[in-house]
Amino acid sequence: MTAPLTRTIPPSILVVDDEPSILSALECYIAKLGCHVLVASDGFQALELFKVHRPPVVLTDLKMPGMGGDQLLQELRALDENVQVIIMTGFATIQSAVTTLKAGAFDYITKPFRLELVARAIEKATEHLELIYYNRQLQENSLHVLEAMVKTLEQRDYYTAGHSRRVTAFTDAMALALGLDSHQRHVIHLGSLIHDVGKIGIDDAILRKPGRLTQEEYEVIKSHPARGVNIVEPLNFLKETIPIIRHHHERFDGSGYPDGLTGDDIPLAARILTVADTYDAMTSSRAYRTALSRETTFQELRRCAGTQFDPMLVELFRQLPEDAGHVSPQGTPQ
Ligand SMILES: [Fe+2]
Repeated sequence: MTAPLTRTIPPSILVVDDEPSILSALECYIAKLGCHVLVASDGFQALELFKVHRPPVVLTDLKMPGMGGDQLLQELRALDENVQVIIMTGFATIQSAVTTLKAGAFDYITKPFRLELVARAIEKATEHLELIYYNRQLQENSLHVLEAMVKTLEQRDYYTAGHSRRVTAFTDAMALALGLDSHQRHVIHLGSLIHDVGKIGIDDAILRKPGRLTQEEYEVIKSHPARGVNIVEPLNFLKETIPIIRHHHERFDGSGYPDGLTGDDIPLAARILTVADTYDAMTSSRAYRTALSRETTFQELRRCAGTQFDPMLVELFRQLPEDAGHVSPQGTPQ
């Protein structure tokens, strides 16, 4: 997981070099720039300091005994993908330094260097961090707007209030139980929160009709996954949620919509969401019926395993703890 970016200017900096004279010269110079400086004389010490202080910028020598700057770079980026690593290298190893750029280093400077060059590299790394920070803020704000749209939609109807939050708590628990990695779990979390955002464009008279829908009205309802995709498509950071939104009403036997996909052709995240979505709908009261019990709902899910749902996921869902879909009063899945 990536650590939150809480400070960009001035960053604290970790300087790593096995040559004591270079280390102390850099420490003294960088401190005068107004940065908090941490120093380490080898890669292992650097890692320990990084784990505790999480400096956003690391300036490291390439050739060091024990752990080189290239290996340190890999270790640091595994801990925090946003850490900005500047490599210092002698002319003889410049090609190795160029290779570190492909491995995610932000920049390199060749020894012997003028200290102003170090200052410039730090400044550029800081600017880059600011960009990452503002981009993330923008993404969070966009997500909040979409979530607010879904919440408003749900709260217009007493029966559906909190639906997406509860469904998300279930899909979080299922993704964890399946052993999916943190990135996949994050995508499923986002997709679940906004899966019904396409209902925004559908008339309340159809959306909340207590009686049976006409074929025409049903066709309008069936358009909500595609409408949701249209809303989310311009937001690049939500790109990976598109298959979830588009396919959350597919059925395992191919009789769902919009594309009639079958079995494993339906994205796993969408198959997970379908089970959670249906469970929550059935265990909540609706205008046209009261809530079904947990046991009755499980029986129904099992009955439809293999036709509507992925049988493996129905069994997985059944084994989740009873409070897996619990949502706090603030609306945060627990
Ligand atoms: Fe839906």
